[in-house]
Amino acid sequence: MNTLSLNDRLFRESVPKGGLCIDATAGNGHDTAKLCGLVGPNGRVTAFDIQPQAVENTKKRLKELGLDNAEVILDSHANMEKYAEPGTVDFIVFNLGWLPGGDHSVFTHAESTVAAIEAGLRLLRDGGKISLSIYYGGRSGYEERDALLEYLADLDPSRYTVLLTRFYNRTGDVPISAVIVKGI
Ligand SMILES: C[S@@+](CC[C@H](N)C(=O)[O-])C[C@H]1O[C@@H](n2cnc3c(N)ncnc32)[C@H](O)[C@@H]1O
Repeated sequence: MNTLSLNDRLFRESVPKGGLCIDATAGNGHDTAKLCGLVGPNGRVTAFDIQPQAVENTKKRLKELGLDNAEVILDSHANMEKYAEPGTVDFIVFNLGWLPGGDHSVFTHAESTVAAIEAGLRLLRDGGKISLSIYYGGRSGYEERDALLEYLADLDPSRYTVLLTRFYNRTGDVPISAVIVKGI
């Protein structure tokens, strides 16, 4: 079991056919492609990345897989409210850290990630979820992880449920998975 297999399970149980999803960190497009497959031809996925290389890689992957139900946008996830209506989104994915195979000096930062989560919570429908895979360590350090754990602990329990999964007996900078459910 690892973060990927946990995510696969969460994606399958959370993404409705015909739904609307956001991939907040498109990267190489693996998650965008999974979401496109799960929402099916009548659903939509909006994906964001700040790196042109990531937008290109994601578009290429979608094209190769014959998936045409996504829009891949070169913009920060902190601006996601420009691209969707409040209360309409089923599922939002954040896969934090740097672009695998890309420039490791460009990675997600607490300030914009928290701004994006706040925006995402306004966009989610009741019962919708945000999935966070918190990768840390290496050049990205621990600042974002620590800020997020603090932020998540303070989310209003009368409006949101927060679940955290840690691989507790593994050593090293093992990613942490978190899910925020809108509604309780
Ligand atoms: C771990 S990778 C994502 C991997 C991706 N989910 C995949 O399936 O390949 C993290 C990505 O977040 C992007 N990123 C960093 N800051 C961002 C921001 N403010 N808005 C959107 N994307 C950002 C990076 O450019 C990088 O491509």
